[in-house]
Amino acid sequence: MQDGFQRKITYLRVSLTDLCNLRCRYCMPECGVEKFDHDRVLRFEEVEEIVRMAVELGVRKVRLTGGEPLVRRGLPALCAALNAIPGLEELTLTTNAVLLEEQAQALKDAGVRRVNISLDTLNPDKFRDMTRGGDLDRVLRGIAAARAVGMTPIKLNTVLIGGFNDDEIPALVELTRDRDLEVRFIELMPLGPGAAFPPSAFLPCTTVLERVPELREIGSSGVARLYRLPDGRGKVGLITPVSHDFCAECDRLRLTSDGKLKPCLHSDREIPLRGLHGEALRQTFLQAVALKPERHEELEPGRVSAGGRPMNRIGG
Ligand code: GTP
Ligand code: 5AD
Ligand code: SF4
Repeated sequence: MQDGFQRKITYLRVSLTDLCNLRCRYCMPECGVEKFDHDRVLRFEEVEEIVRMAVELGVRKVRLTGGEPLVRRGLPALCAALNAIPGLEELTLTTNAVLLEEQAQALKDAGVRRVNISLDTLNPDKFRDMTRGGDLDRVLRGIAAARAVGMTPIKLNTVLIGGFNDDEIPALVELTRDRDLEVRFIELMPLGPGAAFPPSAFLPCTTVLERVPELREIGSSGVARLYRLPDGRGKVGLITPVSHDFCAECDRLRLTSDGKLKPCLHSDREIPLRGLHGEALRQTFLQAVALKPERHEELEPGRVSAGGRPMNRIGG
């Protein structure tokens, strides 16, 4: 699949649920979300049919997201079914790792070779505060379990928030000195509750390079620019959706848990796929790709994303 701007679409991000077992302040309102009705959420057979079509049309990589994908019961069975689709080269997921200790082995056995894990702080009190009640120790055990079953490389996603975790930049980078980990700093995007954060919370990723000047650029991967400590085993990634957009290289589509294709994270355009099969599904996919905008509007502080969904309903 190629869009109207010669970009090849090879990556599908599939949100399996809008529910989450944490309540990160930049992502979800305190009271949680108004739940999608159970029957609004795609059944696993529907997800499989859509992914099968996406792969037929050229998608090579699928990432399962949420909310929190591990809260969907029976997830390993879905992973095994997706992993068996001929032509799919990579099946991964993005998780908060709260349930990973229990599920890492089953997911690995089902063909999930690596995971990206959200981790915004190494301080248990700050973690509890930012996630409104989360237990950092469980997340660290989840990360250890993923390493123990051989899911590599593990990428940790840290949303950079001025006044909250910028003081931990050196400690987070330090994790990459003797571990084969990738720690990625992500600029806070003005989406959902994140849009209401004060201007001082929105730090550009260049802050990381100012705080740790030893970092050396080594290339890029997907949306991340990669760096390394001079003697580091792991890597540091900078993801800059706000200060420097990467629309020109965008290779992805998103499927929401209620069955809509989203050609761009920051556009409210959505194409419903529910109930479509065969040729109708194929044609609708192609239409969605054709609707992919060249770029999204500027996201400077004070400007709210036009995406129309909070993060837990898109999955990043
Ligand atoms: P890899 O396959 O390991 O490269 O992962 P990934 O970066 O594609 O996935 P992950 O879920 O770890 O993404 C990290 C974060 O980067 C997301 O949650 C978003 O916050 C941000 N991000 C990823 N893709 C996009 C994108 O297309 N646009 C914008 N604005 N942000 C994105
Ligand atoms: N800006 C940047 N990243 C965000 N995430 C959630 N909300 C935001 C936001 N407003 C991140 C999470 C997770 C990934 C799926 O998206 O921390 O790593
Ligand atoms: Fe849950 Fe991820 Fe949102 Fe945090 S950022 S509330 S872990 S979906």
